[in-house]
Amino acid sequence: MNTTSLEKIVALAKRRGFIYPGSEIYGGLAGTWDYGPMGVELKKNIKDLWWKTIVYARDDMVGVDAAILMNPKAWEASGHVEAFTDPLVECKICHQRFRSDKPDEIKAHESSHAGVKVEWTEPKLFNLLVKTYLGVLEGEQAELYLRGEITNGVHVNFKNVVSSSRVKIPFGIAQIGKAFRNEITPGNFVFRSREFEQMETQFYIRPEEQEGKKWFDYWKQNRMDWYLSLGMKEENLRFRDHEDKERAHYAKAATDIEYNSPWGWQEFMGIHHRGDWDLSRHQEYSGKPMNYKDPVSGEEFIPWDIETSAGVDRSLLFFLLDSYYEDEKRVVLKLHPKLAPVKAAVFPLLGNKPELTEVARAIYQDLKQHISGLIQWDDRGNIGKRYLAQDEVGTPFCVTIDFQSLEDKTVTVRHRDTAEQERISIDKLPEFIKGRIS
Ligand code: GAP
Repeated sequence: MNTTSLEKIVALAKRRGFIYPGSEIYGGLAGTWDYGPMGVELKKNIKDLWWKTIVYARDDMVGVDAAILMNPKAWEASGHVEAFTDPLVECKICHQRFRSDKPDEIKAHESSHAGVKVEWTEPKLFNLLVKTYLGVLEGEQAELYLRGEITNGVHVNFKNVVSSSRVKIPFGIAQIGKAFRNEITPGNFVFRSREFEQMETQFYIRPEEQEGKKWFDYWKQNRMDWYLSLGMKEENLRFRDHEDKERAHYAKAATDIEYNSPWGWQEFMGIHHRGDWDLSRHQEYSGKPMNYKDPVSGEEFIPWDIETSAGVDRSLLFFLLDSYYEDEKRVVLKLHPKLAPVKAAVFPLLGNKPELTEVARAIYQDLKQHISGLIQWDDRGNIGKRYLAQDEVGTPFCVTIDFQSLEDKTVTVRHRDTAEQERISIDKLPEFIKGRIS
């Protein structure tokens, strides 16, 4: 089990501006979180890198950004109105509600009643879709849902994408966006919240068992390799195939990538073989054809879909946990430089020497222009404290301008993970940093 405690990550996240409790000054709102200046950068970096490898680096993937609000019939078609449920039980002592399919959470609650035997109500299926209302007149408002997964907005646009772009099967549609679930027990920080973000691909293939297996295996490994390429420790990741009884209503097969969290192995993201479930159901419920015509053979069929679905917030939490390092001198987030919220920090050695500040300011402005990402300025206190502050948010490079810089036009660059320093010529600095963060 990962030995970094979740409490440490929660405290660091609040202290250093990664994540705050949602609506905190009003006592909060369970299952919601707000991202601060560091969190928003880390989240953006995760999403940008995902988009870069999933869309820009491939020639068989295009993107969409569908509306969160959809005609409610889309949710009937996708089976979510009927089957997007969790089994809920209520503690007869304190009336708190839990998921009966999470034995660890049930056990933890029972032990909170210190020796008193807890009785539970029979499990009741509870629908996770969040309802909302649209329209200006009270009583005439339409009831609809905030999307429970971002997937539906892609499938309903399948024909639009085929007819408006040059895609040919096999091809995929990528999307990133918010999803909402009325989770019975939100918890473990942003791991299970009621509002969260997903990054998904729907990859459309010919409807054949062999093709299904080939692409399912391909996407499993592709996603695992992506997390490893961003520095996640191999021993903290594993695949877990879903058993028949736990598979979602739409899935012919499902595998999770799991992370070795402080509270045990947990679902990180899923790869789902959705077969023709979504397109067939949308065809049936909308009355609109969802078939694909092969441009060469003229053959028509409803494609199968191999989905990859990852939580942005869950990825962010696991990157934080995986990169956390602490010794007697410092706390360091050893984030991959591509993920780091701050790419470089610039310091004049002393804050009260105008000749140092002037050169440092010019370097700072130059880096801001040339580096895609956040560059920070700090001239407060002593240099050691400035380094420690940057280590805590995972800044890979600290650039210090000292008296030697005025003479030979070099600066020191301190490397976060080793704390080693090297002298770099000022005119080579942007390239030096650029080459290591992109
Ligand atoms: N479209 C398929 C789908 O939504 P899922 O397994 O329900 O599948 C996919 O969700 C991913 O979304 C999960 O692996 C997780 O990373 C993230 N996720 C799901 N529910 C979440 C929640 N309540 N809070 C944070 N992330 C969540």
